[in-house]
Amino acid sequence: MTTDAAAHPDTTADKAAFDAAAAEEFAERLFGDYTSAMVTLMIDIGHRTGLFDAAAAGPATSAKLAERAGLTERYVREWLGALTTAGITRYDPLTRTYTLPAEHAACLTGGGATNVAPLSLIVGHLATHIDDVTTAFREGGGVPYEKFRPRFTDVMDGINRGLFDGQLIDGVLPLAGDLPARLASGVRAADIGCGTGRALIVLAEAFPASTFVGYDIAADAIDRARAEAADAGLTNVTFEVCDVAHLPADARFDVVFAFDAIHDQADPEGVLRGVHDALVPGGSFVAVDIKASSHLENNVGNPIAPLIYAVSTMHCMTVSLACGGAGLGTAWGEELARQMFADAGFEVVSVSDVPDDPIDILYHCRRP
Ligand SMILES: C[S@@+](CC[C@H](N)C(=O)[O-])C[C@H]1O[C@@H](n2cnc3c(N)ncnc32)[C@H](O)[C@@H]1O
Repeated sequence: MTTDAAAHPDTTADKAAFDAAAAEEFAERLFGDYTSAMVTLMIDIGHRTGLFDAAAAGPATSAKLAERAGLTERYVREWLGALTTAGITRYDPLTRTYTLPAEHAACLTGGGATNVAPLSLIVGHLATHIDDVTTAFREGGGVPYEKFRPRFTDVMDGINRGLFDGQLIDGVLPLAGDLPARLASGVRAADIGCGTGRALIVLAEAFPASTFVGYDIAADAIDRARAEAADAGLTNVTFEVCDVAHLPADARFDVVFAFDAIHDQADPEGVLRGVHDALVPGGSFVAVDIKASSHLENNVGNPIAPLIYAVSTMHCMTVSLACGGAGLGTAWGEELARQMFADAGFEVVSVSDVPDDPIDILYHCRRP
């Protein structure tokens, strides 16, 4: 109920206009929203404890599942109560066994892009910042990136690692024309806002003739990227702590990637201009960013749109505003993105959906 009249239908006109059934239906929907939020926390726990893997191994009692995952049975049984009533697991009261259907296991286990369980971690993580974000509502400004680290680094790594491992080479790169062939023949490529560097590590392994550099402002993320590259024995990829609004003056690239790393920038226009200037003529800028319209009315009906705007409020917009930045927000959208790419001097060659990824879209831009 959003108006005083709805809350207190005092006048005759208000009473006539007030649809009690609609209010009841809306209240039920709110309970559904709160239930989904709490189920999301249960998915987070299932992912981080290994319970989904344990359940995917076959039907089991709560005791057996607890044993498989090395956990405390009483907690596991309560968790199973939430999952079963939420329709994620099934329960047979005769044998007291729980089953994770294969179709559900496919979405909650495994290392590929179809495992969406890691995305649940963003909810619990961002919720820990709700006091600071609320203060920003009252006082302006924002919550700086540093406050979200190091946990944000982990969560982000978990969210996109499956996509990079499962889809980057065969699903994402072919969306950018002859890019796979150019990478195979040997180019200089960069990833701006590379986080823990997984995308470049996958690329460096697949394209040994090319050299790669990843830039991120977060030292914890760069440390992890360097360690993983060293473990993999890669010599064609390096990682640097760098504010990508100020790329090194001598940086020259044939290809620049940005994975979910434009919309939360403090100075996205400056970043795009810098990428343009660092590319050789004919060079490619490949930006995977959030799939949305810049116009709210076009996002109504998109079931993921509330998630996008909420993550923006709780993280992507606030980290930018914390630096006095543009605060583009996660739903900056395709219309504005195209305009900003064009303003920075790019030709937008194509815009494509990303396989197995309903949240992102790929922009392939070219420096003329
Ligand atoms: C949403 S995360 C995406 C990380 C990674 N590309 C991925 O897809 O998993 C955005 C990243 O951009 C980095 N970042 C934000 N502003 C930056 C800046 N001005 N310079 C360099 N990195 C920045 C953050 O530290 C963070 O790692």
